[in-house]
Amino acid sequence: MSNVLVFDHPLIQHKLSILRDKNTSVKEFRELISEIAMLMCFEATRDLPVKEIEIETPVATAKVKRLSGKKLAIVPILRAGLGMVDGMVAMIPSCKVGHIGLYRDPETLEPVEYYCKLPADIAERDVIVVDPMLATGGSAAAAVTFLKKRGCRHIKLMCIIGAPEGVAVVQEKHPDVDIYLAALDDHLNEHGYIVPGLGDAGDRIFGTR
Ligand code: PRP
Ligand code: URA
Repeated sequence: MSNVLVFDHPLIQHKLSILRDKNTSVKEFRELISEIAMLMCFEATRDLPVKEIEIETPVATAKVKRLSGKKLAIVPILRAGLGMVDGMVAMIPSCKVGHIGLYRDPETLEPVEYYCKLPADIAERDVIVVDPMLATGGSAAAAVTFLKKRGCRHIKLMCIIGAPEGVAVVQEKHPDVDIYLAALDDHLNEHGYIVPGLGDAGDRIFGTR
């Protein structure tokens, strides 16, 4: 069974409280999504391997730790996942970025794929899939299935708000995928929206409603 980690860091919770507010502007919403992704990235990469090397400071020789060069890829689920990319790339400048386009059919709530472009060596990389919302779990589970078909073996899922229903679906279909959240909300409503949630993440990032 995969781990579910809910980050209760005060900075993340404060930013999330503004993100949820329906009166938050598009500009502020975008900035907050990016900042929260950056803070979550900090925790989600805690297990990255480091190697010890020796360098010269202006004062003495020092044994220091550097990242061991593990290859990473960030894969946002379009559209809303795009809002999290800048924050992640600011923390991991050498990562590659793949894109998977999925939208939820409003009637069936099933994910429909419309775009996919991944780094050629994606199978050799550790992948962090990002999407602000984990609702029914259909989109996230489909993205992970897709990555596994492309040979990926080490996949994490980072979402800002999750619903228990979506967490259960990902855990059932992909027990090897750890899930990182800033909040685990109460339930889904009859339209598949997370309650209390923040509304439609894509529309709020791109100002399309
Ligand atoms: C939203 C969100 C997720 C998906 C979550 O995207 O960004 O990708 O819904 O729902 P699920 O867990 O029930 O699959 P949406 O389909 O609205 O597309 P958009 O990002 O283009 O707005
Ligand atoms: N997608 C969103 O953008 N918001 C939700 O609450 C559920 C799915």
